[in-house]
Amino acid sequence: MLSTEQLQQFEQDGFIVLPDFVERARCEELQAHVDALLVGLDGSGEACVFSTTDPSHGANEWFLGSADKVRWFFEDGAVDEDGNLTRAIPEAVNKLGHAMHDLDPVFDSFSRTPELAEVAGDVGFVDPKLLQSMYIFKQPGIGGEVICHCDHTFLWTEPQSVIGFWLAIEDATLNNGAMWALPGGHRQSAKSRFRLVDADDRSKGTTTDVFDEVPYDTDGLVPLEAEAGTLILLHGTLPHYSAANASNKSRHAYTLHVIEGTANYLSDNWLQRPPDFPLRGF
Ligand code: FE2
Repeated sequence: MLSTEQLQQFEQDGFIVLPDFVERARCEELQAHVDALLVGLDGSGEACVFSTTDPSHGANEWFLGSADKVRWFFEDGAVDEDGNLTRAIPEAVNKLGHAMHDLDPVFDSFSRTPELAEVAGDVGFVDPKLLQSMYIFKQPGIGGEVICHCDHTFLWTEPQSVIGFWLAIEDATLNNGAMWALPGGHRQSAKSRFRLVDADDRSKGTTTDVFDEVPYDTDGLVPLEAEAGTLILLHGTLPHYSAANASNKSRHAYTLHVIEGTANYLSDNWLQRPPDFPLRGF
């Protein structure tokens, strides 16, 4: 699937952009499926705001218990001080996560394609496991910023193995919050690790171990504009970022995080599957 040049580029930059990887019509099918799921949503109850700038979601069971669920998370700006939604649910959702690829047949078939499996083999996976899936909405107007981070911080294996498979479901442009990445930044080790305080009791919440206080050099970030159907691979230690969506167009994306089956997935990572719900490959 990937040429030698593309693999060299991935090694050099820590990311690679593959336009037209999935047909636009397939993206539209997935989007229509998500629209249908949202119609059935009940926004009341214990739903959680997802924010990378406010760590309070870390202690939330809705978030920490989502490894084997299909759950929705709301935008920061879509919930008022009393916890009520300030806009209709389809415009308030931040993302769906984190096991659609195993629980929802439409997501399953979108995620487990021969092409994605081949790319995983090309970038070196021997026994790839699909750890988590997210459908990200990046809503017009309120779609919040995602701070500069690397995915290894959140999905730690030893040795490091996570790679992000990011698929544009809608066009991602400079106006609606396209991703940005730091070319070559994956050669730095992760600056922090987000983990459970206590691997045996997630009600104790999460904490972040900081190894390096110096922030990433965000001056070097380059935009990764992507038309619908584009696949972007992100190395696990690659710093990446996306701005808030200040436009009037959404920027839907679907991500899969894949780890090496032989690597040690740490027991105090925030995302923990129950023993009866093992990880599967492509
Ligand atoms: Fe990320």
